[in-house]
Amino acid sequence: MKYFYYHQGELFCEKMRIKRLAKEVGTPFYLYSAGAVRENYQRINAAFASLETLICYSFKANANLALCSLLAREGAGTDIVSGGELYQARKAGFPPEKIVFAGVGKKEEEIELALRENILMFNVESEGEIELIGAIAQKLSKVARVALRINPDIDPETHKYVTTGKKENKFGLAPPVARKIYQKLKKNRWVKPWGIHLHIGSQIATPDPYLRALQPIETLLKWLEKQEIKVKYLNIGGGFGINYQPGQSSFDLDDLADKITPLISSRKLKLILEPGRYLVAKSGALITRLLYKKRQSSKTFLIVDAGMNDLIRPSLYQSYHEILKLDEPPANSPREKVDVVGPICESGDFFAQERHLPLAKEGEYLSIMDTGAYGYSMSSSYNGRPKPPEILVKESQWWIVRERETYSDLTKGEHIPLELSFTHSRLAGKPLYFTKMEGIGNDFIVIDNRPGFILEPNKLARRLCCRKKGIGADGILLLEKSKKAKFLMRTFNSDGSEAEMCGNGARCAARYAWMEGLTNKKFTFETPSGNILAEVNNHEVRIKMKDPDPVELNLKITLKRCTRKGHFINTGVPHLIIFESPVNDSSLKEIAPQIRYHPRFQPQGTNVDFVQIEKESLRIRTYERGVEAETLGCGTGAVASALISAAIYGISSPVKVKMKGGELTVWFEKIKRGLYQKVYLGGDANVVYRGKIIEGDIDV
Ligand code: LLP
Repeated sequence: MKYFYYHQGELFCEKMRIKRLAKEVGTPFYLYSAGAVRENYQRINAAFASLETLICYSFKANANLALCSLLAREGAGTDIVSGGELYQARKAGFPPEKIVFAGVGKKEEEIELALRENILMFNVESEGEIELIGAIAQKLSKVARVALRINPDIDPETHKYVTTGKKENKFGLAPPVARKIYQKLKKNRWVKPWGIHLHIGSQIATPDPYLRALQPIETLLKWLEKQEIKVKYLNIGGGFGINYQPGQSSFDLDDLADKITPLISSRKLKLILEPGRYLVAKSGALITRLLYKKRQSSKTFLIVDAGMNDLIRPSLYQSYHEILKLDEPPANSPREKVDVVGPICESGDFFAQERHLPLAKEGEYLSIMDTGAYGYSMSSSYNGRPKPPEILVKESQWWIVRERETYSDLTKGEHIPLELSFTHSRLAGKPLYFTKMEGIGNDFIVIDNRPGFILEPNKLARRLCCRKKGIGADGILLLEKSKKAKFLMRTFNSDGSEAEMCGNGARCAARYAWMEGLTNKKFTFETPSGNILAEVNNHEVRIKMKDPDPVELNLKITLKRCTRKGHFINTGVPHLIIFESPVNDSSLKEIAPQIRYHPRFQPQGTNVDFVQIEKESLRIRTYERGVEAETLGCGTGAVASALISAAIYGISSPVKVKMKGGELTVWFEKIKRGLYQKVYLGGDANVVYRGKIIEGDIDV
């Protein structure tokens, strides 16, 4: 059946009038026919039905999740080339036991991910790679299954950019090198020879190059048999060509199947195929609108609203795509010689050159055919052009399976470092930029004050931290210039008082500095209570705390109506720890404020933590000095609780500490009972939002 055809004067995709979609969605957009994908899959399946065959769709041809999920549902596996494709393929529903992983430059983390997922096998392309795979497999105690990709040195007679089986290409291994590796693998516990892989190129017109490539493979198979090295799979890759031009014939799959069957069935091998283009190219079209018709010199240009950023194949490979009008031209309608070009600022931005097309008027729609493979997957947003949407049609149903990108997608993930921002140097008339952050529910307003424009930080903290008249936060963190380290962090509580240090504040400041590019992942910064070593791993920040003073255990604190037993430690700021199980609300409301102002801890006062020991963690609630209330979490309090629990109950590092706002981990080393060193605190530090304060409304 034809999936794109003219009917009642218009181009249809399955049972949908494409013009209706164009009007509804706007142009340009990619359009795919579900029926065509399924039919192509079944055609390959039927051709190779006499062999045990796994069709591993080449994911790079078209990574659209909905379209891929159709193939996964048909029973296809997939051929991937990166960790990103592994992630996408799993999301599309391809099971790991049907995934093969090719590519000349696999990275350690990609190999590890694939091993953890238990994919069917790696198609290995170099000696270095096999060693790395072995090392990672051993580390994970997993067995890696591999096929060696053989470079048979044959010419597949296609475009030189998609020729991959000649000896001067970067792909695969020469047969003698492959033999050496297979031989070595005999003794390898962690890497098992599972197959032989070939992929000689793309858009190959006839079976002949495959048959030539299989000659050295047959020799290799005989050699493997002699060596008693057993492989289960022969993977002949993809590359089956399609007929892009009218009159061209498409690849004869039945002929290939017939000719390779003896080689495979006599050895009871399983066959893997990796078709990309053959499955999806003809299922897709790129729909565009004719913006302007322009005559220049002796030429006529049809300027359309799709560009080489949407479909790069004509520019990159001089490839031919048929172009149809959505309105069917009458039989024998006049034609004119045109160049169909896009809006990109490059002369290479064309879809057809000197092509005789039926006359078209400005505003009409055109369909660039056979663009389901290597169309969207090779697109970019070059020239500030949001990528087009993708639409899937199944009979008379249709879905937008990927939305059109927006202008804001064009700047997604970008940051202008404050240092480069034109608003940075002086505040006069310019906004004050801040970043709202939180770590376990301790929230901060982080401001880069290295230029020194904040003159009254205490006042600013009171105002900004106020949840009614300001932004609302437990404190503000100022990054200031430091002679000793990358920067100095100053912490101001919401009452305006300055704290020497705050564990969660320090983690937020560290993440902020790393995000702004002020530091590497691991660095030191200064606080009034000493230098802090920090390590940032995306959201997770771990800091080394100042070596704490020795603990003071079993203090009797006499209060108005009672006496409480507590344990004191300074972990950068003072903390009194009280074990209480379960913790009463009244302890935080009534007991804690009395302790905080108790003469024993004057003049600086103390924070108070109520600690409950659970199975494998501590649960704590903290009354914070300065905030003068319970907070959702407190980093120095978590450290204090962990160390005191170690001193009293012998709890060992690492200690998980749960608070209302989340969980932290504390690591430490014991010198002797009650004295600790190498204390680390780790947990998430998150950006909530960024904003700016207009000078004049709030005094800086
Ligand atoms: N297997 C491997 C290891 C591959 O590298 C490829 C494609 C395939 C299978 C699938 O080949 P296919 O059946 O689709 O020909 N961008 C070019 C095509 C590049 C092909 C890259 N490798 C184009 O638009 O023509």
